[in-house]
Amino acid sequence: MCGIIGHVGVDDVKKALINGLQTLEYRGYDSAGIAYFTGDKIKTVKTVGKVSCLKDKVNKTAGNDLATCGVGHTRWATHGGVSDTNSHPHTAGKVTLIHNGIIENYKELQDELEEKGVTPISQTDTEIAAMVINDCYTGNPEAAIRKATAKLEGAYGFCIMFSDIPETIYAVRNGSPLVAAHTDKGSIIASDMVALVSYTKHYFVLKEGHIAKMTKDEIIVRDENGEVYGPHIHHISWDVAAAKKGGYDYFMMKEIREQPEALLNTIRPRIVNGLPDFSADNVSDDIFKNVDRIIITACGTAMHAGLIGKNMIERLCRIPVTVEIASEFRYQNPIMDENTLLITISQSGETADTLAALRLAKERGAKTLSVVNVKGSSIARESDYVLYTHAGPEIAVASTKAYTVQVSVMYLIAFRFALIIGKISKSEAADYMNMMMDTVDSVDKVLSYDSQVENIAKRLTKANDIFFLGRGLDYSLSCEGSLKLKEISYIHSEAYAAGELKHGTISLITDNVPVIAVATQPDVYAKIISNVQEVRSRGAMVILVTGAEASVDTALCDHQIVLPETDPLFAPFVATVVLQYLAYYVAVEKGLNVDQPRNLAKSVTVE
Ligand code: M6R
Repeated sequence: MCGIIGHVGVDDVKKALINGLQTLEYRGYDSAGIAYFTGDKIKTVKTVGKVSCLKDKVNKTAGNDLATCGVGHTRWATHGGVSDTNSHPHTAGKVTLIHNGIIENYKELQDELEEKGVTPISQTDTEIAAMVINDCYTGNPEAAIRKATAKLEGAYGFCIMFSDIPETIYAVRNGSPLVAAHTDKGSIIASDMVALVSYTKHYFVLKEGHIAKMTKDEIIVRDENGEVYGPHIHHISWDVAAAKKGGYDYFMMKEIREQPEALLNTIRPRIVNGLPDFSADNVSDDIFKNVDRIIITACGTAMHAGLIGKNMIERLCRIPVTVEIASEFRYQNPIMDENTLLITISQSGETADTLAALRLAKERGAKTLSVVNVKGSSIARESDYVLYTHAGPEIAVASTKAYTVQVSVMYLIAFRFALIIGKISKSEAADYMNMMMDTVDSVDKVLSYDSQVENIAKRLTKANDIFFLGRGLDYSLSCEGSLKLKEISYIHSEAYAAGELKHGTISLITDNVPVIAVATQPDVYAKIISNVQEVRSRGAMVILVTGAEASVDTALCDHQIVLPETDPLFAPFVATVVLQYLAYYVAVEKGLNVDQPRNLAKSVTVE
């Protein structure tokens, strides 16, 4: 949420900042701005709109400025509306900064400052933070940052410049992520590795409470006690091409098509002698022993991956699993002890509510395992154990490949867990692994369904409401299909357990209301077909997604999408591609910006 970047040392930092902001734009696109030293002054250029608007403004108003040190920001508005004044960077006295996060006690701090006669010009919590730091500043930047941050409550990642300390950026964070690197082009820091990857594949994560001082020659990190700290260097396995569109109109389509590769990268290293194996991840089997309940917690799409995980773990391990929305779970005084295994799932590894749920579980003595895509992210670092998904960078706000690989890791957990506690034999586990690898071929095959789904999508663009129906695994998958559709097409949609519809919601089914029914599970196939009959006889326009073996009465639906042959247990991997395509083509047909849907940002680092 909000993209931030700081860069010192390059010849034209304005250009470097704007290029960096373009890669970070998926984190927020309400407004954008940069501030940089030119001569001995700090100059700020900011505007509502996308980074391209900022680029035009910089070219018009600051094209000739010489600048080798600066900070940049692309905003997802929280406090204060979308306006030039509320855009970042913000300046108070000698302090200019950019911020990712929310300062929760900004009102009390503002009242204190106003008593001293200092008033803000924007409506943002960020300007108040700048004022607090300036108020604490008497010539020692690190002392001022330390004193000021002790007063701040909430989440923040700040990049700060002091007008009397040229060519230097200070950074500090709590909650919100910051990654940094020193390269032959100077020092660079950002909220996400995608802004650094064109300079380097090696980076460190700034720890909470540490302060980084960045100049063109070096980055010095100091811990809470002011001692110099040598950060752990991480390496990414993907390169700059992975973070580019590569000829596709949208990242989302590129990422849908990358799913077979992402699945192979995630599954293959965890098959040893044909069996599921986490030893290369250093995940000890002890984590699966003496567990009497499992809680899976996550947000949005990651939570939907958890729903599938619950089904698989309960089915194979016969241990109760609950799936909790992280923002609810953390405030419900949840019951956990040392026999509880808490599994968090997160693409970014930085989602504020998921991180808070993890911290709560640790306080209460639960064992913690996370499924995370971004290496070195907060959730990964703070969990007892982590299983990384290997999706590569996911840039589109709508999650696709990250979801599929999360689901694959949940399957692997179910298989390994069941094997360890003796619920399945080695030969059964090996069969499951073979089936899972075969499923990757089916995912590859279903990618060719694009034109079929595109034609069907054209019939959905005028709909006001669309319903998804499923039972069991298909219901869990429908939740994700519905979220994907509403997120990028702005059409209201709901996913329903097919048997539940007649307990109220069926009153909304009238002539031509689209219903997408997912029916891949043989054990409940006849039941969902009856539910489809119920909506059909009330006039619904039915799109039916079935397994290859299903024989369907043609009068039952307007369109049938028959999936490539797959074992039903693995059908979610294949069916999800159809639902992703459906959302994608409806949004494209409506002329919407698929990768940057309104009001959303990729990484939600505030509550
Ligand atoms: O980074 P995370 O996986 O923790 O993010 C959780 C959700 O914000 C995310 O899955 C969101 O729902 C997706 N953008 C939806 O496509």
